[in-house]
Amino acid sequence: MFGIERPILCGGLMWLSDAKYVAASARARCMGFITTRSFDDARSVRAEIRKCRDLAAGRPFGVNLTVSARESANRRVNADLDAALEEGVRHFETAGLPPGDLVRRIHDAGGVVIHKCSSTRHALSAQAMGVDAVAIVGMEEGGHPGMNELPASLLGALASERLRIPFALGGGIGTGAQILAALSLGAGAVVMGSRFLVAEEIAVHPAYKNRLLECDENSTMTVLRSLRNTWRVLRNDTAEEVARIEASGADNHEAFGELILGRYARDHCYREGDWSRGMLSLGPAIAFADRIQPTEEIVEQLMAEFTAASHRLASVLGLAVRIDCTDRPSYDSAIDKESV
Ligand SMILES: Cc1cc2nc3c(=O)[nH]c(=O)nc-3n(C[C@H](O)[C@H](O)[C@H](O)COP(=O)(O)O)c2cc1C
Repeated sequence: MFGIERPILCGGLMWLSDAKYVAASARARCMGFITTRSFDDARSVRAEIRKCRDLAAGRPFGVNLTVSARESANRRVNADLDAALEEGVRHFETAGLPPGDLVRRIHDAGGVVIHKCSSTRHALSAQAMGVDAVAIVGMEEGGHPGMNELPASLLGALASERLRIPFALGGGIGTGAQILAALSLGAGAVVMGSRFLVAEEIAVHPAYKNRLLECDENSTMTVLRSLRNTWRVLRNDTAEEVARIEASGADNHEAFGELILGRYARDHCYREGDWSRGMLSLGPAIAFADRIQPTEEIVEQLMAEFTAASHRLASVLGLAVRIDCTDRPSYDSAIDKESV
């Protein structure tokens, strides 16, 4: 469906899924999605797509269209889609509100669309709406996991019983063994974000990447659930302040002022490196990041872990199977020949 060899979708990352990172995921034979809302207008989106095409070595890549609850934020979605289709993009990740008419327009152009959902109910509606696949994300997801409080593993098991269309599973995934687990639940792929934030190609200030390397599984928190806009972010001064304002009874987004604006996070943290400021989308899968590496190396590591987990599983089951998902020439010799 996505023309990729690795079962990994690198989910759209606001401000960060630019040409460089998305092309790096494409070269790693995964699929990345340029987040249109990170750019000022459809013209800039078009320029970014062209840049990505130059860097992607002929491999496919996609575009993320996030449909917001705020009408004003959506005026551009159709223009962004026009630009992407005209530039030859045929793979789309939609998120937020139901993609509605976007699905028809994408299909008319011969494209495919995977819609991100945080519950099986929303996944079933998206299926009824005609999307080609859904990405189901658990409450562990960095960013906006919706009102759902259930983990990815449970949602995956439910999805495989209830859905007709293929699904990807995401939220909290940071190792190859977890990818194997997701596929064994019936997913066709995983969608990952947080684990890739330390990739070399991600354009954030080095001070933030170094902070990410110190994070463990308890370094994130959720806020704004009372506004029906749950947001999982790095636990920092801004997030604690937002939690305080929320606990004091704030019932609209304006009450939080600039603290929750995307540009506040982009300017203070991503550009200037002050990670104490800004709502910085992040999930506990960051616990698995232990160094700054090229995207391709992270993917190779994940696939080596996937292979190792497959062998463990095969030996538990007493099966004679041979799985090798890595390209590393040296890997073959590392396999315990007795167990395969
Ligand atoms: C920094 C960051 C920004 C994100 N921005 C978006 C976005 O703009 N649109 C979207 O659909 N998902 C967004 N997400 C969610 C990811 O695409 C993906 O679904 C999620 O990261 C998967 O969960 P994980 O973080 O546990 O791997 C973002 C996630 C992170 C960590």
